[in-house]
Amino acid sequence: RYRQMSIMEMEARVKEIKDMLGRELFIPGHHYQKEEVIQFADAKGDSLQLAQLSQKNNDAKYIVFCGVHFMAETADILTNEDQHVLLPDMRAGCSMADMADIHQTERAWISLQELFGDTILPLTYVNSTAAIKAFVGRNGGATVTSSNAHKMVEWAFSQKERILFLPDQHLGRNTAYDLGIPLSKMAVWDPQKNQLIFEGDIQEATVILWKGHCSVHENFTVNNIQHVRMEYPGMNVIVHPECRREVVELSDLNGSTKFIIDTIAKAEPGSSWAIGTEMNLVKRLINAHKDKHIISLNPNMCPCLTMNRIDLPHLLWSLESIVEGNPVNRIRVDEDTSTNAILALNRMLERA
Ligand code: 13P
Ligand code: SF4
Repeated sequence: RYRQMSIMEMEARVKEIKDMLGRELFIPGHHYQKEEVIQFADAKGDSLQLAQLSQKNNDAKYIVFCGVHFMAETADILTNEDQHVLLPDMRAGCSMADMADIHQTERAWISLQELFGDTILPLTYVNSTAAIKAFVGRNGGATVTSSNAHKMVEWAFSQKERILFLPDQHLGRNTAYDLGIPLSKMAVWDPQKNQLIFEGDIQEATVILWKGHCSVHENFTVNNIQHVRMEYPGMNVIVHPECRREVVELSDLNGSTKFIIDTIAKAEPGSSWAIGTEMNLVKRLINAHKDKHIISLNPNMCPCLTMNRIDLPHLLWSLESIVEGNPVNRIRVDEDTSTNAILALNRMLERA
């Protein structure tokens, strides 16, 4: 029914409901959300910042999470029972998080324990399902974000000789490489074939990377960088560590979403930047920093399609459902999963 309303009518109604619900409502919005949605966010942030903010806003009875499913799950885990976390569109998943299924992971763990005994610790990027976070928590490991991955991988190596890094092979590889671990010590676990890919003596492998990736960041290529170097001499290239190793290698800087935002904000007026991250964010940075020359590293880049599922009509639908007393799309993580996932989250929150 919202499709029949004009954009202005929908925006006016969202504002009206926000005023009506006041502090009972909190809308966190991830940096990759589209403009039509993020304009209504009470706080913008990366995935973890937003979940932590939801926890802090504990007088908010309704948290309408403008992001993707795993972020809403983390918010539900970190908030109390009386708080309702709603995801405006249940189709807003994450293809990377879907690449590590809990059954595949349990199966992989049995094989890895047979190979390495008790010398391996699991770590998972927060971009993973609650079930994976719970698996990691149960097995003594922790979550990581792109902002604290170095610190957390170092911590993991102070606990055990080896790590299993889920589900993003690129963040795992880039982080381990920065910490001085050679590529020759990194193996890849292929969950489709249920086998380890490694050349040489497997006991030499200290980093086991889950074969998952982000379908948005994997689209940036070496060709994109070579093209920028040729067309725009002197332009700085900055990319997210979810990009492939060879792309990170050729870039000038790499870091989390927050690092990219902060770096561009601090950059000299007149400086020029090619950015390798999600398109909605790149567009926002272009508009916010007119004194700098900013382009996307890949001009044919699509936004994250699942992030984009959250649009103005879905946001309004979600808010109306609260007003009508029948909130839709509540995200609930069961108690057992939550209890174990919190162990993994807390091991990170205590350190980073
Ligand atoms: P961060 O928000 O942690 O940088 O993660 C990027 C991302 O891909 C979110 O889905
Ligand atoms: Fe998942 Fe990548 Fe989209 Fe983030 S940008 S939600 S990791 S597919």
